[in-house]
Amino acid sequence: MSAILQVDKLSSGYGELPVLDDLSLEVGHGEIVSVVGANGAGKTTLLLSICGHLKVRLGSLKFDGQDITKLPAHEATEHGLVMVPEGGRLFPFMTVLENLELGAYHPKARGRMNESLEEVMGLFPILADRREQLAGRLSGGERQMCAIARAMMSMPKLLMLDEPSLGLAPIIVDKVFEMVTSLVKTKGLSVLLVEQNVGNALRVCERGYIIEHGGILKTGRGKDLLNDPVVQRSYMGL
Ligand SMILES: Nc1ncnc2c1ncn2[C@@H]1O[C@H](COP(=O)(O)OP(=O)(O)OP(=O)(O)O)[C@@H](O)[C@H]1O
Ligand SMILES: [Mg+2]
Repeated sequence: MSAILQVDKLSSGYGELPVLDDLSLEVGHGEIVSVVGANGAGKTTLLLSICGHLKVRLGSLKFDGQDITKLPAHEATEHGLVMVPEGGRLFPFMTVLENLELGAYHPKARGRMNESLEEVMGLFPILADRREQLAGRLSGGERQMCAIARAMMSMPKLLMLDEPSLGLAPIIVDKVFEMVTSLVKTKGLSVLLVEQNVGNALRVCERGYIIEHGGILKTGRGKDLLNDPVVQRSYMGL
């Protein structure tokens, strides 16, 4: 499987503070890859660095055949690299529909906005029912769906999800992950999923990476990592 995203020996951080050090990973076309690790391990920093919000200090990023190491964040979206931040970050005083429309802000997506709207409303019927409701009034699960739908409005090739299960009841978590799996199957998307919820994230992915102190500790097929005694002991409380 060829890679849609290649992170090669990446180092980055905040100001003088180094966080990621010599980190390499890749995501194949149509693949779901999970990155799991504890609080402060560097998961969000990784996503911010990939999509251009943080400067890459060393190493390189390749996306869809192009070098994107220095690509600014607003251009990353146009290339099809889209991040759904933790908690979704919807605009609470705007309606569901307005939030979705904002997802299609770049010219290519704008031209297809009506088709995309119809499509995401079909994928997430609850959003069609709530289209005129303020986003701030959505439940946690609905908010996460709306945030994923908003990302879909920008026609991504790679969707990067930061802790989509955070704060959701287990049954809603299952639903969100089901949704993500079906998007991958029907739309040919690739997904980079970042989670503290290690069990769920490793079950849903093809391959996973364990991140610790800004570096990769272990990688393998999701199934194998789930059965790994070290992973079970350190990250799953087993
Ligand atoms: N804006 C910032 N400025 C300075 N340091 C930061 C900033 N954001 C994060 N850090 C530091 O970078 C390190 C990695 O943080 P990061 O947010 O990437 O962790 P994480 O794996 O996403 O954790 P969590 O599971 O809690 O979301 C931490 O030590 C954190 O304190
Ligand atoms: Mg985080």
